[in-house]
Amino acid sequence: MVLEPAEIWAYLIGRGSVPATATGTVREVGDGNMNRVFVAVPDDPAIPSVAVKQAPPWIQKLGPSAPMSPERALIEARALRTFAEYAPRQTPTILDVDETRFAFTMEDLSDLTVLRTALNDGAELGRTSAEVGELIGRVTFATSVAGADPRVRAALIAESVNPLLAEVTLQYLLGDPFVEAEHNHHHPALEDGVKRLRADPAVRTELAAVRAAFGAKAQALVHGDLHSGSVMVGHRDGEPVVRVIDPEFAMVGPIGLDLGLYVANVVIAAVRSRNSAHLASIAECWDAFCAAWREGWPTRVDPLLDDGWLLRELRDVWHDTLGFAAVELVRRVAGYSHASDLETLPDPGPASALVLDLGHKLLVDREICGSRPDPRALAHLVSTSWEARQ
Ligand SMILES: Nc1ncnc2c1ncn2[C@@H]1O[C@H](COP(=O)(O)OP(=O)(O)OP(=O)(O)O)[C@@H](O)[C@H]1O
Ligand SMILES: [Mg+2]
Repeated sequence: MVLEPAEIWAYLIGRGSVPATATGTVREVGDGNMNRVFVAVPDDPAIPSVAVKQAPPWIQKLGPSAPMSPERALIEARALRTFAEYAPRQTPTILDVDETRFAFTMEDLSDLTVLRTALNDGAELGRTSAEVGELIGRVTFATSVAGADPRVRAALIAESVNPLLAEVTLQYLLGDPFVEAEHNHHHPALEDGVKRLRADPAVRTELAAVRAAFGAKAQALVHGDLHSGSVMVGHRDGEPVVRVIDPEFAMVGPIGLDLGLYVANVVIAAVRSRNSAHLASIAECWDAFCAAWREGWPTRVDPLLDDGWLLRELRDVWHDTLGFAAVELVRRVAGYSHASDLETLPDPGPASALVLDLGHKLLVDREICGSRPDPRALAHLVSTSWEARQ
């Protein structure tokens, strides 16, 4: 059942994904923790190369001693299909879904680079944040109470339940980093800051609010893990290309989750490189998100939703965005899964301490960025924090 590189060509031929006579090479490209990804390159250059992603019935990095339902591959493929419907430009094309083997075949993206790697190497974001904001905006509008017929939405909510991965998020993003827990670790320079964070009652209350938003807000289909490791970037025919990958955490949830994770990782990349253009792109992401909602708004399915509600909804999404961004900032320096942006610095201490401090500040006082959605105020908060530590 679990595919090995030597079986990939026979598999692709059997699935009808490539011509029966095709031959070629295979390489394993997955550097992820959870699954396997293979790229199959045909000898015949006229046949496009493809990528196969399979979820084994365990966490790939840990092996059979860490079982996990392989259903996640089908959740991911289903989410990618929905993303492709509303944001085709930013979504890899799915060519085949194999429900028996919990695998799917998609467009080969190996000419692109994972955004986190590109940023670590000094790349600029260019249009990336706007593309990501547009994808989030289009997908969430189309699957929200404004964009989707109630029956279609009810079916989407039912088919998108993702309890296993929601549990992972509750533990590793919204739980462990805020308490003493087995897998947590942090740089020694953060010792005092981490103690202060974990002892702060205001942190507990605000964390509770973010956990409640995660558990209770079925606003729209969200990616669920939209950090800079889930975006691939590059150029094709001289034009910038952005693709959002890996929505295995997808569910109908709070819209601010995707925006918050993405924004937090842009902040982390900016802190690494002290690049204020990265910070400016937070506004590009938010503006593109709002533009997609405004574009869909005249076609809304419920005429009783009025402009006042839209304003209130966008404000609420911004509030959640800041909450999820704050917990992500904390998680990436005090939880289990850290950001290579910081870890690969000669001394990760000062930048990590700054990220922790920002996460703490933002979590306990989201109004620090103003009472209205103001991504520029968030960028300002970050740049003044690093100037203060020069
Ligand atoms: N369609 C593709 N074409 C080429 N390479 C890809 C493709 N999809 C993924 N990859 C490569 O494989 C890596 C792992 O992919 P992905 O993040 O989807 O897997 P994962 O096992 O779910 O990861 P994680 O443990 O981070 O959740 C990516 O970082 C990227 O380098
Ligand atoms: Mg994944």
